[in-house]
Amino acid sequence: MKNILTAPFVEEMRKTTANMYRLGWDERNGGNISYMLEESEVAEYLDLNNVIRTIPTGFDASELIGKIFIVTGTGKYFKNIDADPETNLGIIRIAKDGTTAELLWGYKDGGKFTSELPAHLMSHMVRLKKNPENRIIMHTHPTYTLAMNFVHELEERSFTRSLWKTCTECIVVFPDGVGVLPWMVCGTNEIGIATAKKMEEYRLVIWGMHGIYGAGKDMDETFGLIETVEKAAQLYMIASTMPRVNTIEDHELKAVAESFGLKYRADFLDL
Ligand code: 13P
Ligand code: ZN
Repeated sequence: MKNILTAPFVEEMRKTTANMYRLGWDERNGGNISYMLEESEVAEYLDLNNVIRTIPTGFDASELIGKIFIVTGTGKYFKNIDADPETNLGIIRIAKDGTTAELLWGYKDGGKFTSELPAHLMSHMVRLKKNPENRIIMHTHPTYTLAMNFVHELEERSFTRSLWKTCTECIVVFPDGVGVLPWMVCGTNEIGIATAKKMEEYRLVIWGMHGIYGAGKDMDETFGLIETVEKAAQLYMIASTMPRVNTIEDHELKAVAESFGLKYRADFLDL
C-alpha cells in the first residue's frame, strides 16, 4: 500500500488550500472543499474495508452511496492543512444508509467533516446530473466578492451583468452567470437545499454577505471560476467609486460569447 501523503489528491488539497489562504480568502476556518475520488485511486493508498469510525451526516445522500470524498474538517484552518493533512482533512465514504459517513482516513484528532457538508453533497448530487465529470465543490470567502455583496444588489441578473461588464473574458469563463442566495444561516440543511437548487442552473453561487460556492470537474476549473469572479469583483470595487467613462456594451458581450461559440445567458443581456 502506498503512503497516502504522496497521493495526488492529498497533494492537490494541500496546494489549493494553501494558495487560497495566501490569497486572503480563507481566514481562520473559513472555506471548505469536497473532492469526489475514484474508488480505484483511493484503494492504492487505503484499505477500503477499514472504517475508522462512522459519523452521521444529518441528511439523506442516497444518490451518493458508496462514493468517496476527501473533505476539509470543520473548524480547521486552511493555513494548517499543508503541514498536517491527516488532522485537517478526512476521507469519507457515504454508507449504505445514505445518512452516515464512514471515515477511512484523517480527522485524526477526533474531528469531522465541514459543517457545510449538506451544501457540498447536495451540490455534488445536482452537478453530477448536469455533468458526470464533476468532482469538486469549493466554498470560500473571497474579499472583493464579499465587499461587492455590500454595495451591489443581490440579484442574479444584475450581479452577473456587473461582473461580465468588468472583464471581457468573464462571459467566456462563466457564460451561465452567477446564482445568488440572500443571507441565510450557514451550516444548515436549508442552505444546502437552496444552494443545490441554484446549482441546477449555475456552477457559481454567491451566498449573500458570506461567500461563494463553485463546482467543477477538477481543482483548476473550480478554482478558476471563483478566481475569475473575484478578479472581476476587485475591478468592480476599485472602479465603482470613480466616474465611469467606458463600459463593455451588451452587444460586445454578445459578440465575445458568439465568437467563442458559447451557450450563454442571453436573457441577462439587454439586446
Ligand atoms: P467549517 O469550518 O465547518 O468548514 O465552516 C467554515 C465556513 O466557511 C462556514 O461557512
Ligand atoms: Zn463560509
